[in-house]
Amino acid sequence: MPNAKAPQAIETNDQASTFLNGKNSLTITDNRTGKQYDMRIENDTIRAMDLRQIKVKDDDFGMMTYDPAFMNTAACKSTITYIDGDKGILRYRGYPIEQLAEKSNFLETAYLIIYGELPTKTENEEWVYNIMTHTLVHENMKKFVDGFHYDAHPMGMLICSVAALSTFYTDAKNIMDPSCRKLQIFRLIGKMPTLAAFAYRHSVGRPYVYPDNDMSYAGNFLNMLLKTTELKYKPNPVLERALDVLFILHADHEQNCSTSAMRNVGSSHVDPFSAAAAATAALYGPLHGGANEAVLNMLDEIRHKNNVPAFIKEVKEGRGRLMGFGHRVYKNYDPRAKVIKHLADEVFEVTGRNPKLDIALELERIALEDEYFIKRKLYPNVDFYSGLIYQAMGFPVEMFPVLFAIGRTPGWVAQWEEMLLDTEQKIARPRQIYLGHDTRDYTMMGKRTQKA
Ligand code: CMC
Repeated sequence: MPNAKAPQAIETNDQASTFLNGKNSLTITDNRTGKQYDMRIENDTIRAMDLRQIKVKDDDFGMMTYDPAFMNTAACKSTITYIDGDKGILRYRGYPIEQLAEKSNFLETAYLIIYGELPTKTENEEWVYNIMTHTLVHENMKKFVDGFHYDAHPMGMLICSVAALSTFYTDAKNIMDPSCRKLQIFRLIGKMPTLAAFAYRHSVGRPYVYPDNDMSYAGNFLNMLLKTTELKYKPNPVLERALDVLFILHADHEQNCSTSAMRNVGSSHVDPFSAAAAATAALYGPLHGGANEAVLNMLDEIRHKNNVPAFIKEVKEGRGRLMGFGHRVYKNYDPRAKVIKHLADEVFEVTGRNPKLDIALELERIALEDEYFIKRKLYPNVDFYSGLIYQAMGFPVEMFPVLFAIGRTPGWVAQWEEMLLDTEQKIARPRQIYLGHDTRDYTMMGKRTQKA
């Protein structure tokens, strides 16, 4: 019988008494020493720091967990977004994504995500006014964007111009001042479409278009992208609404790669523009926000639906991935992909059917019947059909992750603020398992031997 140890009293809080009675606890036996440890269970979780008491010798560092890519580690408590990956459920502040996509609009959803409740009429008017009067950027920003090479990727330009906002708004450093944070949130959400549109106009060699604050958020974005010589740009209402819904669907997705970047970088207490630039950079990667661009490139490569079986075979043999399929959290159909599939029909009625849709439908049909994808629970994710809509609307593929970034900005700022106000949070600093050399003496260059 191992040396039974009394449960460790960790902290006094409302759960402590139950914990001391042995309920809501996990007992761990260290077979190296025979000692037992009781860990408090809270929200089906034990605290990694509680493991540090597990030692063989008193001067040991103590036990850690090893979790590359954070497969099973909760790094924060959050009240913003709920996902049940097995059931394919996504809710912002409790509201199902399907209802928000049908009944809400992007700015109202952004308010909900940031402040926790749907706005009243007055709150909404004030909020929309504040966002739409922060859409203009400093004139020097035009010179800044002008400096990019003619074929610069718009996402690269967006990363840099979001970071540059911190040089125009030096007050943004006052992150502990609530009114200052509020102002930066207006600025970020307001200016993202302007910066994105400037990047696009630069890449097509057209003059920048100033925001038109009489229009809706999505309508104004289309205006800044597409206006030519007309006095007043009039967006197609179906396309304007479709873009707004796409922004809603992308608005938050709990602790994904870019949001974690926003929280991690923000945890050093840098200004939110610098943190948002890091989040935008994380989103650029083909495994995250760059996936919608990769889907279109993949469909181009497949060329015809008859080539789908051969492509699937290659994927199964480990030569490439089926882009737009699979998700770290969803092991079911991504609920956002379902909404987007319906939205595609509405958009194609206006724009004409994207011929690549046939290839995508065939890919989905074959993959969902294939043992490889079934076994691994790989289903279409948000990026599988969104690119087809964006392309039908006339966006070049390079703009796809940029559109994702605009939609995700409310989520980034809400999660950033939640992190700052969470008294348990500190600067993010993971541990490592060091497996390198032990100490060794410096060798002079002449005495070093060539490595094979
Ligand atoms: N095509 C083929 N096989 C796949 C795919 C795919 N798209 N995704 C995962 N797998 C296989 C993978 O090879 C592995 O197989 P095995 O067990 O035999 O080694 C298994 O499924 C598990 O994959 P994983 O890479 O361990 O899963 P993950 O949770 O680390 O990766 C993912 C999630 C989204 C990065 C991945 O599914 C992927 O690369 N998908 C394609 C890119 C994509 O569509 N990304 C957009 C994600 S949704 C929007 C966003 O978050 O930005």
